[in-house]
This record gives sequence, structure tokens and C-alpha cells, in this order.
Amino acid sequence: MNMKEMIATRHSCRAYKDEAVDEKTIESLKHFLAEAKPLFPELEVRYEFLGLDDMMPIANYHAPHYIVVYAKKHPLAKVNAGFLFQQFDLYAQSLGLGVCWLGITGPEEDLRKDFFATHPDYEYVISLSFGYQEGDGGPAHFHGRKALEEISDSLDERLEPARLAPSAKNGQPWYFLHKEDGYDVYKDDNPAVTRWQEVDIGIALAHLYVYHPATFEAFTREEPKELEKRVYITSIRF
Ligand SMILES: Cc1cc2nc3c(=O)[nH]c(=O)nc-3n(C[C@H](O)[C@H](O)[C@H](O)COP(=O)(O)O)c2cc1C
Repeated sequence: MNMKEMIATRHSCRAYKDEAVDEKTIESLKHFLAEAKPLFPELEVRYEFLGLDDMMPIANYHAPHYIVVYAKKHPLAKVNAGFLFQQFDLYAQSLGLGVCWLGITGPEEDLRKDFFATHPDYEYVISLSFGYQEGDGGPAHFHGRKALEEISDSLDERLEPARLAPSAKNGQPWYFLHKEDGYDVYKDDNPAVTRWQEVDIGIALAHLYVYHPATFEAFTREEPKELEKRVYITSIRF
């Protein structure tokens, strides 16, 4: 299956074989990431491939591989990281691997300190686990999605890939306000739900990009409409 087809079939993997992914596949993942499209090319992102022993203890499941993501501090840094690494999620799953975004763990404290010693203007963003899936990949938590009318004022079927996007605790904190020249994208203004809402927005936009790679672009609107309980993030056309 290609990345576009993975949008409808992907799921988070929480059960992995205790087996390292072969070197050729790891190289292919690294090559893919080096070529992946950033949402905002001027924003800097760094990532490291780590193993289980490099991560803070994880409560209930283990994977052989992790990617930890850092970004240079910027209001849109997490959106950009979500956009980049959702492409990784789809690509890795298209190769048959299991993948899961991980808000609730991260690299060991010593590794973070080492990183920040050389990158003081960066912040830690998020991690992802990956590996060969065990069985069906474990329990599919919170797999339902909001209806299109809950995430946009327009019943535009072209938003379907964004509707299907994964998000922290399945919060789906995105809203697409229709405009003549595209959509203004908002996030729910409810930080109590999760701290990863900007990452979630980037993930949803990555799905639209993967569906419309030739036409997708992001731009900033000077005076976006103010929406109650929502925060403007960016604008897109595709
Ligand atoms: C930013 C982010 C953080 C997440 N953190 C975790 C996590 O710490 N543990 C976990 O089991 N799942 C985590 N998930 C996976 C979500 O629970 C999952 O994507 C969502 O419930 C939708 O299910 P699906 O990915 O199977 O479609 C995270 C997802 C995102 C996007």
C-alpha cells in the first residue's frame, strides 16, 4: 500500500516483536526523512534514532526503535514537527512496520541534557516508537473520529484525509474554516486536553499534503477571523 492508501488503514501500534528492524529498512526510513517535506522550511527540526534503553521507562509496551524529535523554539515548531513525522508514520506503515506517536515518554534525562548542551535554543517535541508489529498491533484505543461537520463549516469531502488523522488521546483538535482561497486552520483552545495539539494540527495537515502533494501549500492570513474557543494556526490551499 502507498502512503495515500495508508491514511484510511493506518493505526497506532502498541505491540511489537522483540526484534530489531533490518538495517536496509532503517536506511530507507532515514533517507525518507531526509527528503520529507517540511510545512515551514525555515523552521529547524532535529531527530535521533534511539533504542528502548535510551527512553524513559514506558508503562505498558516496548518497541525496539524510537525517534525523538526536537525543534528550534518557534510558535509553529510543533506544527511543523507533526507535519514531518506524520509523513514518517505513513511511510513506515506502508513498509509494513508498526508505529505509534508517544507523548507520554521521551529520551532519558541524560540524553536530553547532552542534546540541549549543543542546541540551547531547541525544545523537546515528541517521540515515536516503531518496529515489527506483533499480531494485530495491540489494542486500538480511541479509534473513532469526529464527523466532517464537527471539524469544518464546509462539507468538503477533500477534508476527509485530515478527518482521519491520529491525534493525542484522539482529541482531534482541528477546525477548518472555509475561505475563498482555501481554509484557515484553527486548534481547539483547550490545553487541558493535551499538550500536543499543535503536533496534532501538523499531523492533520500532513494527510492533506499526502493526498494533494502537487497543490498543497500553507500561508499566513494577516487578520484571520477570531473564533470562540479556537486559536488560528495557519491557512492552507490544496
Ligand atoms: C501527538 C500524539 C501523542 C500520542 N501519545 C500517545 C501515547 O503517549 N501513548 C499511546 O499509547 N498513544 C499515543 N498516541 C496515539 C493516539 O492515542 C492515537 O493516535 C489515537 O487514539 C487514534 O488512534 P489511531 O492512531 O489508532 O488511529 C499519540 C498520538 C499523537 C498524535
